[in-house]
Amino acid sequence: MSRRIIPVADISAMPDYSGPAHAPRGELTDTLARPLRDLRISVTDRCNFRCVYCMPRAVFDKDYPFLPHGALLTFEEIERLARVFVEHGVEKIRLTGGEPLLRKNLEFLIERLAVLKTADGRPLDLTLTTNGSLLARKARSLKDAGLTRVTVSLDALDDALFRRMNDADFAVDDVLKGIEAAHDVGLAPVKVNMVVKNGTNDTEIVPMARHFKGTGAVLRFIEYMDVGTSNGWNMTEVLPSADVIARIAAHFPLIPLEAHSAAETAQRWGYADGSGEVGVISSVTRAFCGSCTRARLSTEGKLYLCLFASSGHDLRALVRNGASDAEIATAVARIWHTRADRYSQLRGSAGATPNAAEERRVEMSYIGG
Ligand code: GTP
Ligand code: 5AD
Ligand code: SF4
Ligand code: SF4
Repeated sequence: MSRRIIPVADISAMPDYSGPAHAPRGELTDTLARPLRDLRISVTDRCNFRCVYCMPRAVFDKDYPFLPHGALLTFEEIERLARVFVEHGVEKIRLTGGEPLLRKNLEFLIERLAVLKTADGRPLDLTLTTNGSLLARKARSLKDAGLTRVTVSLDALDDALFRRMNDADFAVDDVLKGIEAAHDVGLAPVKVNMVVKNGTNDTEIVPMARHFKGTGAVLRFIEYMDVGTSNGWNMTEVLPSADVIARIAAHFPLIPLEAHSAAETAQRWGYADGSGEVGVISSVTRAFCGSCTRARLSTEGKLYLCLFASSGHDLRALVRNGASDAEIATAVARIWHTRADRYSQLRGSAGATPNAAEERRVEMSYIGG
């Protein structure tokens, strides 16, 4: 029997694309009037780290059934789907994994995506989330291929703690070199994401703030979330963002900053001395579903409408069964029109995890952050 814990049974029938002969183009809104603006594309379900909160080694071991090569969307397929999404209003594309820099020749995909333009003719915001381990080596070629910026995950500056958290013996120094290289080639502003697990790495909040203050990097603290089903999430390990801000402000005075856009995940705070900013992403204590404009395309071409979804819509089946661009566009429009997901909000108001018992949610490593 397969040990695969994602994404369970293939309950998603092939999306419906019958209907108008011409592709509906332009802005789409879902049942909560949220437009489709961001597409996050996972390019591999593999990772060279085994972060305890994401790919615990006991589950993601040497026998774990990662996707076979033929299941992955090819770069041609990704580009084709991305074009359809951009015609429907997507302005930002983020490549994720697993670890996206493990996908061979990723630069070729970036080159193809970098030429896409938004409906009003602007270049896309084309970015990538990485663990940073291969970034020092790849920053230049990523920039040359047309990547706009990068976000690097880093959970601690203390080397022993960092190695325990990535559980694959990677050193902090490698990641710091990657961040520097990204900054030097102009993949800026570099964002640094730290998942805070109370009792594990909360002692690193102030050292991380001190380290990145004044460097131009934007450090963001993420509340530990109950994504997937394998990380044994527990509310006692969530440190509310308000506490994170209070701890930093005790050392470095902070002032609240305006959001760049309504759909921004992070609340921004500036250092009072003008030496940069930090952000907090409070998906547990202050859900931001009301402005969620994000769709996620999995490595094997399933479209997920929420980070906490348990099933996706099989766009790869459409592509490989010969659907036209117009038919794919019709299917995407229908899927987005019926979207009602707002998991974090429901979790908050119900005080418990919706659906936890009856459904297996998709894993973060499969869908990307
Ligand atoms: P920027 O444009 O760089 O600010 O990107 P972003 O904040 O949209 O994306 P990023 O991937 O850096 O998101 C940071 C973290 O926020 C992710 O790793 C997730 O932990 C969390 N996050 C991002 N999007 C969502 C979302 O739609 N829902 C929830 N619940 N969490 C999210
Ligand atoms: N809670 C919050 N963030 C998470 N990430 C992975 N798992 C979790 C979780 N359970 C973050 C990683 C990385 C991005 C891909 O998602 O740290 O920044
Ligand atoms: Fe890999 Fe990122 Fe998950 Fe860590 S959080 S195991 S680096 S995909
Ligand atoms: Fe969007 Fe789902 Fe996250 Fe809410 S929980 S912000 S709907 S991805």
